[in-house]
Amino acid sequence: MLDEKSLKEARSLLEGSRRVRALTGAGVSAESGVPTFRGHDGLWKKFRPEELATPEAFARDPKLVWEWYDWRRGLIAKTRPNPGHRALVELEKSVRDFWLITQNVDGLHQLAGSERILPLHGNIWELRCLGCGKSGEDRRAPLPELPPECGECGAMLRPGVVWFGEGLPQETLSKSIEVSGDAELFLAIGTAGAVEPAASMARIAREAGAQVIEINPEESSLSSVADVVLRGKSGEVLPRLLG
Ligand code: OAD
Repeated sequence: MLDEKSLKEARSLLEGSRRVRALTGAGVSAESGVPTFRGHDGLWKKFRPEELATPEAFARDPKLVWEWYDWRRGLIAKTRPNPGHRALVELEKSVRDFWLITQNVDGLHQLAGSERILPLHGNIWELRCLGCGKSGEDRRAPLPELPPECGECGAMLRPGVVWFGEGLPQETLSKSIEVSGDAELFLAIGTAGAVEPAASMARIAREAGAQVIEINPEESSLSSVADVVLRGKSGEVLPRLLG
């Protein structure tokens, strides 16, 4: 149950803040029907990340890794942004200085209309060539052949996502650290806070003096960093926070 007193407190923090940042995770897309990673139904309960989401796994068996990404692309292709995604677009329009830092690769924030967005873990719709380095979006799901090949040089393409053991896109990471460090208000939404450096953005903001609000139906690793905790689904809590 959402605690009304906390909601009121969160609303007043939001009203008084000019520099607002949101960090989102898989929970924001859960109400759209995209599986999360760590819940009881989470992907990492059924699959082993080291077999599917590492450069070593891809080098060992690119077809297997691609089959998994192609399956996820197919699932995501059937989904639509939910009221949580849409509320974040509204927030972007109403706050003068807003940034959305996301760990999600599903593209639903972008589809909803978010523009000031920093996708820390890449984009599942982007394909990147291992030969010539060319990259581009391809929204076909399923893809006609696996693993897909580059139309320019014929080398293998990989999904444009960040795998375990890889660095994050440098510019996106630097900008995320910068905007977290000058936040007045930081919203941690739908993330377990289990993956670094993404989870640290909330701590960077907190240490720099920002107020932190968590929106999550369950306790997370970021709950202890939060000044206000809103226990509920983002698709329900975010519209009420703004409303
Ligand atoms: P997780 O699956 O680890 O966590 C999802 C969080 O969302 C949990 O804390 C849930 O309680 C919460 N949640 C579930 N339903 C929700 C709802 N309707 N509204 C709000 N919250 C809800 O997902 P992430 O924290 O995003 O990385 O995981 C981070 C990274 O780990 C992912 O980007 C991915 C994964 O391995 C890579 O693939 C590199």
